[in-house]
Amino acid sequence: MNKKAYLTSRFAFHVPQACFWGFHACRNAQIGMIMKRAVYPGSFDPVTYGHLDVIKRAAEIFDVLIVSVLNNKVKTPLFSVEERVKILEEATKDIPNVQVDSFSGLLINYAAENNLHVAVRGLRAITDFEYELQIAQTNRLLSKGKLDTMFLTTSLEYAYLSSSSVKEIACFGGDISQCVPDFVADLIYEKYQIKR
Ligand code: PNS
Repeated sequence: MNKKAYLTSRFAFHVPQACFWGFHACRNAQIGMIMKRAVYPGSFDPVTYGHLDVIKRAAEIFDVLIVSVLNNKVKTPLFSVEERVKILEEATKDIPNVQVDSFSGLLINYAAENNLHVAVRGLRAITDFEYELQIAQTNRLLSKGKLDTMFLTTSLEYAYLSSSSVKEIACFGGDISQCVPDFVADLIYEKYQIKR
């Protein structure tokens, strides 16, 4: 079954039920049948093997994982939101229960609009922890407990990886083949006008 057919069949089952019962009533009434959906928000500028590792593992836990790119007006990204969405779509095309989307503004508002109650984030090291804890607790507080965060510890081989370091290595012509899929590496070098 391809990705679109999979998601359509899952949503066709879930949406009318969720609307009729309300999310929590539905969960209580039909334990075991509710579809577990989560959002994995991030900048993904661009997606790395570290992100893909989290995506694959979260997609095994949830029925549907929505990977959503933040349209952050404060930062100047290397790739536009549209480019990052396309890159993510290509990189996740073989994972049937992953959807790619984008959002602006607060995550709690995006989650509420899309009836999402779990955000997934990857934790690489203790340096991530303070920042992630602060965001997770703020989101839980602002959403009045409706948005929780689930952390996946990054696989050890990707613990050092970040989109920023990948871009820095690439802009000096370094080898990023261990950090991102080949097609992403080509797009990064193209942005920096580096021939390899
Ligand atoms: O990949 P990143 O840049 O570490 O992702 C950070 C992200 C997108 C998860 C976070 O900045 C976010 O959710 N921003 C949206 C604004 C928001 O809701 N902030 C939380 C309150 S502090």
